[in-house]
Amino acid sequence: MFTPSGTAKDAAKMRICDVVWHDGEFIKWDDARVHVMSHVLHYGSSVFEGIRCYKTKRGPAIFRLREHMQRFLNSAKVYRMEHDWTIDDFCDASVELVRRSELDQCYIRPILFRSLDEEHPAFGVNPFPNPLACYIGAWDWGKYLGDEAIDKGVDVCVSSWNRLTPNSLPAMAKSGANYMNSQLIKMEALVNGFAEGIALDDRGYVSEGSGENIFVVSNGIVNTPPLSSSVLPGITRDSVIKICGELGLTIKERAIQRAALYVADELFFSGTAAEITPIRSVDRITIGNGRRGDITEKIQNMFFEITSGERQAPGDWLTYVREEAKVGNNGFKAESKVGSSSVIEPATKLHAAGIK
Ligand SMILES: Cc1ncc(COP(=O)(O)O)c(C=O)c1O
Repeated sequence: MFTPSGTAKDAAKMRICDVVWHDGEFIKWDDARVHVMSHVLHYGSSVFEGIRCYKTKRGPAIFRLREHMQRFLNSAKVYRMEHDWTIDDFCDASVELVRRSELDQCYIRPILFRSLDEEHPAFGVNPFPNPLACYIGAWDWGKYLGDEAIDKGVDVCVSSWNRLTPNSLPAMAKSGANYMNSQLIKMEALVNGFAEGIALDDRGYVSEGSGENIFVVSNGIVNTPPLSSSVLPGITRDSVIKICGELGLTIKERAIQRAALYVADELFFSGTAAEITPIRSVDRITIGNGRRGDITEKIQNMFFEITSGERQAPGDWLTYVREEAKVGNNGFKAESKVGSSSVIEPATKLHAAGIK
């Protein structure tokens, strides 16, 4: 999907939801704008999420919505963003947004950031004087690392850029600022002809891709770096760990050396955007037989069976957007209201944060 120069758009045909949730209301996509002097533009003061909503026979279903929203709240807490939103507010808003979008499947992007009080502006680094703004948008996003990547795998490199250190920018908070590091990793990979880069942590152990967690399969054991290697506590990562349990595969969180990537039997990325993407080479060294490995395929198959609603998930992983709603002729629930939790599935056990 990416051209060698990396300038291609990351989705060929993008369908965008024409409304955006903003601080409790739905506004037009075109009206979702910020002032150029907003704190976030200058100092990177945002936290956000990326959530997929899958097409199923029972209508669109949002994957692990509560876990994503819990991470969103956690990220905001780390950055002392004090607000009155609850997890239910964010979950309900997302469900309603997907309903209004008329999309069968989409990517949902909540973002909370420091804005600008135009009447009493503040321009310094100190974020506290700046008001918070919250938006949730949605669009239909294709395969993040290319249409063929899911079957055939991708060619990647180890980045010359290290991942963030835990006490500089915490990787467990999904903040906009962290993605400056991700952009360095991604741009270097693209200009050198790779689909993605893998960053090492500050000690030289494998951390993660610019937007994905990584798994290393060796001698039948599935390994992944621990959170202490500066990785985002990925919701897909957690799903893979649980899927391995279902498949009876041994899964270990442990520090992984760079060279272990080269001699692995199989490697794959996990992420909301990338889903489960096999890696077929690292630094032009072929991994295994250069094709998607058997264990990767098994995990991938179970993942897609679960996300398509064909297989029971190991938990309440899917929130069916249209189910139980009174759907009118236009496909919308009559008088649907943000704040109603009538179509949200029972609370799932919240994703443990940060300590592993
Ligand atoms: C840096 C980074 N690591 C890992 C992931 C995977 O996390 P998740 O599975 O929650 O999407 C992402 C994607 O959001 C990411 O940006």
